[in-house]
Amino acid sequence: MALLDGKVAVITGAGRGIGREEALLMAKHGCKIVVNDLGGHFDGTGQSRSPAEDVVKEIRAAGGEAVANFESVTDFKAAKRIIECAVDNFGKLSIVVNNAGILRDRMVFNMNEEDWDAVVGVHLKGSFNVARHACAYWREQHKGGNVLNGRLINTSSDSGILGNAGQSNYGAAKAAVAAMAVIIDREMQRYGVTANAIAPVARTRLTVDATPQTAAGMPTAKAGEWDAFTPAHVAPLVAWLSSDDAKEVHGEVFRVGMGTVWLMRGWHSVGKVAKKGSMWDPAELGGKLKEELGKGATAKENMGQVMAGNV
Ligand SMILES: NC(=O)c1ccc[n+]([C@@H]2O[C@H](COP(=O)([O-])OP(=O)(O)OC[C@H]3O[C@@H](n4cnc5c(N)ncnc54)[C@H](O)[C@@H]3O)[C@@H](O)[C@H]2O)c1
Repeated sequence: MALLDGKVAVITGAGRGIGREEALLMAKHGCKIVVNDLGGHFDGTGQSRSPAEDVVKEIRAAGGEAVANFESVTDFKAAKRIIECAVDNFGKLSIVVNNAGILRDRMVFNMNEEDWDAVVGVHLKGSFNVARHACAYWREQHKGGNVLNGRLINTSSDSGILGNAGQSNYGAAKAAVAAMAVIIDREMQRYGVTANAIAPVARTRLTVDATPQTAAGMPTAKAGEWDAFTPAHVAPLVAWLSSDDAKEVHGEVFRVGMGTVWLMRGWHSVGKVAKKGSMWDPAELGGKLKEELGKGATAKENMGQVMAGNV
């Protein structure tokens, strides 16, 4: 029996890059796939049916089952239709991979309202929209005695969990989708659902076209050689997290790429200064905090170090 036999997945933004690889691998492992993709440019403008249609053709040619869906995840009502597309075509929904993404990099002092709204709209609101309708469906099914072992996988980024200059819109949204997975996991455990997040590292148009400075650290492999940065390296983790075997994995964040999976944990206290009985004087507090920061100062990892294999 294949790992995902009998499962049905919605993968957003599955017409290209990482989502396409997830769709192909999960279909190979028996999962029926709704290949959702708006088919726009990397900045979110435009649309085209061919990316989603092409992936559906590839899956079918390999003997799998898939349907295309061209709705935008940014639209709350359209997100409901994406979920309904799975149920209408394949009878149920088991897995949601929130993967759709765009980039509009600017330093914060140059960022206009539209660039902020567009990026936050796809990554943060889009992930919420799809998760919200999927979770309502899983809860309703569970109440009716149909336990579907729902799986939600949000796509975060090193930009969100570590920070990256020029991406206050994207990084803020990506930190939020990681937090969203942790919170939804707590809300949905009682319905047999797990929610986790991934932070991929891969050569796709979001790195090659939108951020060539990042892609410079992601060389293309020669034919027959190990290709460290192919987006295909992301898919095995997502396929496994989607399976019943991963039922104990709750609210985790994994960096994934280059054949490596890192378990990421953050925002934990590493020191404190405390005073009881009287209020801190601000300067006194600042002096104590500077001492504490000095003690706890450790080198922070960044995406360049990860790509160079130094983390
Ligand atoms: N490539 C990396 O190294 C990297 C690093 C960190 C995070 N990510 C994240 O991985 C995910 C996949 O990105 P990718 O690198 O494969 O890029 P990609 O551009 O190849 O794929 C993203 C897909 O999302 C689709 N999409 C965009 N807006 C949409 C919308 N509103 N509704 C439906 N589909 C929409 C696009 O048409 C595109 O096909 C994104 O969320 C991205 O932020 C990628």
